[in-house]
Amino acid sequence: MTKHDSNQPAAEAPIIIATDVDKIYPNGCHALKAVSTTVARGEVVVILGPSGSGKSTFLRTLNQLEVINGGSILIDGVDMYSKGTNINQLREQVGMVFQNFNLFPHKTALENVMLAPLKVSGREPKEVEEHARDLMYKVGMDQRMQNYPSHLSGGQQQRVAIARALAMKPKIMLFDEPTSALDPEMVGEVLDVMKSLAAEGMTMVVVTHEMGFAREVADRVLFMEEGALLVEDNPDDFFDHPSHPRLKQFLSKIF
Ligand SMILES: Nc1ncnc2c1ncn2[C@@H]1O[C@H](COP(=O)(O)OP(=O)(O)OP(=O)(O)O)[C@@H](O)[C@H]1O
Ligand SMILES: [Mg+2]
Repeated sequence: MTKHDSNQPAAEAPIIIATDVDKIYPNGCHALKAVSTTVARGEVVVILGPSGSGKSTFLRTLNQLEVINGGSILIDGVDMYSKGTNINQLREQVGMVFQNFNLFPHKTALENVMLAPLKVSGREPKEVEEHARDLMYKVGMDQRMQNYPSHLSGGQQQRVAIARALAMKPKIMLFDEPTSALDPEMVGEVLDVMKSLAAEGMTMVVVTHEMGFAREVADRVLFMEEGALLVEDNPDDFFDHPSHPRLKQFLSKIF
């Protein structure tokens, strides 16, 4: 049972099952070492760890932006690496938000949100636009839908990027340091959007340095180091009663 899924049956299978995931980059860097974890539907998982510990790599394996070298990943019961799996279809179920929003500069905010779903066969332009407008409202950008990215603040651009990811109607949202490139006064507005998504029951895996968010919103916090998943715990025990010496050391540098 998570903070966010009180209406879900307890016995439901996890929406993400990663088992012994290994990633070795072509240069030989062993970025993930037998990483195993599961994420329940509606759960919010925050990943912490020092720079280079494999946080981004792990997120990227979850929608196959990185191909893994060992282990397996199941998304909602579908094995990413089974022969019959349509990886593009699977990817649509996993939205991703990056540190640098990467909006198309020559498209308006609304057009940025509509772009990907318009390419999916079977979606009517009118329905896509209506959904995009609803999403802009949801992220508090309904007054600026016709702006080009260069006329938006970093926080506003990131909120459009979240709406863009949601436009594909994903089952899971991945966030890789979504507030790290923002001026401090804009961090809150992006975290608020993420909090409301969590409250609605979205399954989220979030790499962030925002410890307040981790404490308040996460159901579980993961700690990675040198490609290994060392600790996973509820936020209270993770922050207040860390048992692993490496986690203690990491937290002592932060607080
Ligand atoms: N494309 C790549 N090719 C080769 N090595 C890579 C590549 N991307 C990442 N690495 C290496 O893999 C390891 C894990 O990197 P990763 O980016 O996943 O770490 P991270 O925990 O996200 O770090 P940060 O907090 O700095 O974002 C590092 O040693 C990194 O140098
Ligand atoms: Mg990273």
